[in-house]
Amino acid sequence: MQATQVYIQQHKEKFLNELLELLRIPSISADPAYAGDVQKTAEAVSAHLKQAGADNVQIFETAGYPIVYGEKITDPALPTVLVYGHYDVQPADPIELWTSPPFEPAIRKTAIHPEGAIFARGACDDKGQMFMHVKAFEAMVQAGELACNVKFMIEGEEEVGSANLGIFVAAHKELLKADIILVSDTGMLANDTPSITTGLRGLSYVEVEVTGPNRDLHSGLYGGCVANPINVLTKMIASLHDENEHITIPGFYEKVQELTQAERDEMGKAPFSHEAYCKALDIADVYGEKGYTTPERGSIRPTLDVNGIWGGYTGEGAKTVIASKAYAKISMRLVPHQLPDEITELFRKHFESIAPTGVKVVVKPHHGGDPVVTPVDSIGYQAASMAYEQTFGKKPIPVRSGGSIPIIALFEKELGLKTVMMGFGLDSDAIHSPNEHYGLFNFYKGIETIPYFFRHFAELSK
Ligand code: BES
Ligand code: MN
Ligand code: MN
Repeated sequence: MQATQVYIQQHKEKFLNELLELLRIPSISADPAYAGDVQKTAEAVSAHLKQAGADNVQIFETAGYPIVYGEKITDPALPTVLVYGHYDVQPADPIELWTSPPFEPAIRKTAIHPEGAIFARGACDDKGQMFMHVKAFEAMVQAGELACNVKFMIEGEEEVGSANLGIFVAAHKELLKADIILVSDTGMLANDTPSITTGLRGLSYVEVEVTGPNRDLHSGLYGGCVANPINVLTKMIASLHDENEHITIPGFYEKVQELTQAERDEMGKAPFSHEAYCKALDIADVYGEKGYTTPERGSIRPTLDVNGIWGGYTGEGAKTVIASKAYAKISMRLVPHQLPDEITELFRKHFESIAPTGVKVVVKPHHGGDPVVTPVDSIGYQAASMAYEQTFGKKPIPVRSGGSIPIIALFEKELGLKTVMMGFGLDSDAIHSPNEHYGLFNFYKGIETIPYFFRHFAELSK
């Protein structure tokens, strides 16, 4: 491992410059205006894999954006690590809130990242983290210390639901044969508190449309006489939580498994500061389901949140009008045993049932995904734990995260593999928000830690 680490230390600047180049391509998968750039990013990733030493590098076209594949099989007797990541990013808006342009990466110091952080859309989620694997691989190849076979599968549609990756995986089971899936697309507690993500929430995402009268109406002539879709929609949404912030959809909690007190106590050992949390978000207090702590509310409990709501007049000045329609986008984060399709159906039934007769309601399901919980007694987890201990000087804490990577449950189902999530981002890195950034410390620490995972995984696999 010595030569690998020496190579990393000697090529830090090159690694960084290559990442900055990748961050300059606006690979926004949600916006068709950037289709050419997403495609270009796939080509750039493929070129990087080749240059890093991967064989059989291919760009698999799909009905959406391509999947980039590459591998290095040095010895069929060695275990194979399948690395997953994504090269697409979230839209950058609201653009005016960025201190520097989202696709012109800039390095600035912050209180949490005194050695500097890369500010750019995708810096942390997930180009920066995905690229750590490419560079760790390059270092291991160059040093002649690649301890496992490797396969890379880097997609371009994670931020829009990975619809085509599922099809690809089902059709390429032989190609993707491996012993473990390794993903860096999550976070850790703090730079001095390494952690390994052992769970992700699932997702059910719906859009609702409430229609009242067949046209917009004068709010003086008709106000008070007809159902106002915006009034109705907001009331319906408000009723989805009770006074304890419990979700009121019948059956919503039916399959949720309560954690035992021992499991909750174990979770409670992870450091969490209420003061620091509130201060970082500039809020006077937290808010959430009664009976649960903030870390619990954000990971082991299901939630329902409005992500967007619109309708009526929102332009300059005042317009006295009752809109014909009102809309909202709603996400539900799910925990183990809740099934996305089932939850979507429960939502639809309930939402339709609470609508007053004066409106029509349409519920349109978007993407969903199953929750994931990974074991902590597997050799994959052990190998990761030992790797962090080596580079951070501390044993990492297992932590269940609140975010979702829907495709991971599908990999596990289709390929019969377990996943190890070695995320190096911080919650304060502002992924999906203006001024997303990724610490240089985190970028380099990730590159240094990954090779140890490979070595320990190979040894523990014997
Ligand atoms: N990398 C994130 C998920 C994540 C971030 C998990 C931090 C844990 C910690 C991923 O790119 C993401 O944003 N997922 C989406 C779901 C997807 C279907 C759009 C999410 O969680 O909202
Ligand atoms: Mn991601
Ligand atoms: Mn994301």
